[in-house]
Amino acid sequence: MRVLLLHPGAMGSSLGAVLMANGHEVRWVGAYRSEATHRRAEADGFTAMDDVATGVKGAEVVLSVCPPEFADDVARQAADAGFTGLFVDANAVSPDSARRVASTVTGAGATMVDGGIIGPPVRGDARNLLYLSGDATPVATVARLFADTPVETVVLDAPIGGASATKMAFAGWTKGSSALLLAVRAMANAEGVTVGLDHAWQTMLPHLPEQLRRAAVGSAPKAWRFEAEMGEIAATMGSVGLPTGFHEAAADVYGRLAEFRDSTDINPDDVVERLTP
Ligand SMILES: NC(=O)c1ccc[n+]([C@@H]2O[C@H](COP(=O)([O-])OP(=O)(O)OC[C@H]3O[C@@H](n4cnc5c(N)ncnc54)[C@H](OP(=O)(O)O)[C@@H]3O)[C@@H](O)[C@H]2O)c1
Repeated sequence: MRVLLLHPGAMGSSLGAVLMANGHEVRWVGAYRSEATHRRAEADGFTAMDDVATGVKGAEVVLSVCPPEFADDVARQAADAGFTGLFVDANAVSPDSARRVASTVTGAGATMVDGGIIGPPVRGDARNLLYLSGDATPVATVARLFADTPVETVVLDAPIGGASATKMAFAGWTKGSSALLLAVRAMANAEGVTVGLDHAWQTMLPHLPEQLRRAAVGSAPKAWRFEAEMGEIAATMGSVGLPTGFHEAAADVYGRLAEFRDSTDINPDDVVERLTP
């Protein structure tokens, strides 16, 4: 099948490479994209298209994999270009956002499949999970695209919003708990009781220092993107009558770490220190 990938970020390009290896054509649009995205798309051999309008012509699938706050824009661009094929939104968005995207693309004649990705980009030996929900026939088509690849598709018996809700619940714990751990460490440091907290952790919860290190090193380079994702999770919690405050606070924590965007060689102490003014 011909798939237009919007856009080849770390995750999107890895999915695109898997699709190409599975015999599909993967298109991309370089306009307005950074050098890093150009480098990834060229390295993976995707077919360059001048713009979204050209890219959707003859494409059977549009795969939207972008920072969550731009999911609506990407859907709008595909709809404005007259895309009438299968639109897969695989972004970390709330069920309400997924339904809004669906209404945009179906309004232009496309069919929506909701996706939620859990796990790392599929490079090397890495594998991940792609949860899918929506009408059975288009969902099955998307699952077939990734058949026998490191992207394990999981078909949910749920409407549009189900795959996104699965992602929100999973990330609500993983990224929410990482933000909380970083914040309590910063609070102890600011109160001058680093030694006291270290002692308590070593005695009662000896796994926490390593968990803190992983939270800092793993989250900081992507924190700029997690801020919006935490907002989507807060909205999801609120939409079912649960408190929104956990993930609003997590959004604040990650927002304070935005300067670490794409950094390598991160010192966990620097990440924690950045949290307090
Ligand atoms: N990376 C992971 O481990 C992971 C895991 C699970 C789920 N996901 C999901 O995958 C999605 C993308 O993550 P990623 O890791 O691929 O992020 P990423 O590496 O930051 O890539 C994001 C892509 O979106 C593009 N983009 C930037 N601004 C945009 C805009 N205004 N409109 C449309 N596209 C824009 C970027 O282009 P530029 O180069 O121009 O910035 C880049 O190509 C997110 O929804 C995320 O939750 C990622």
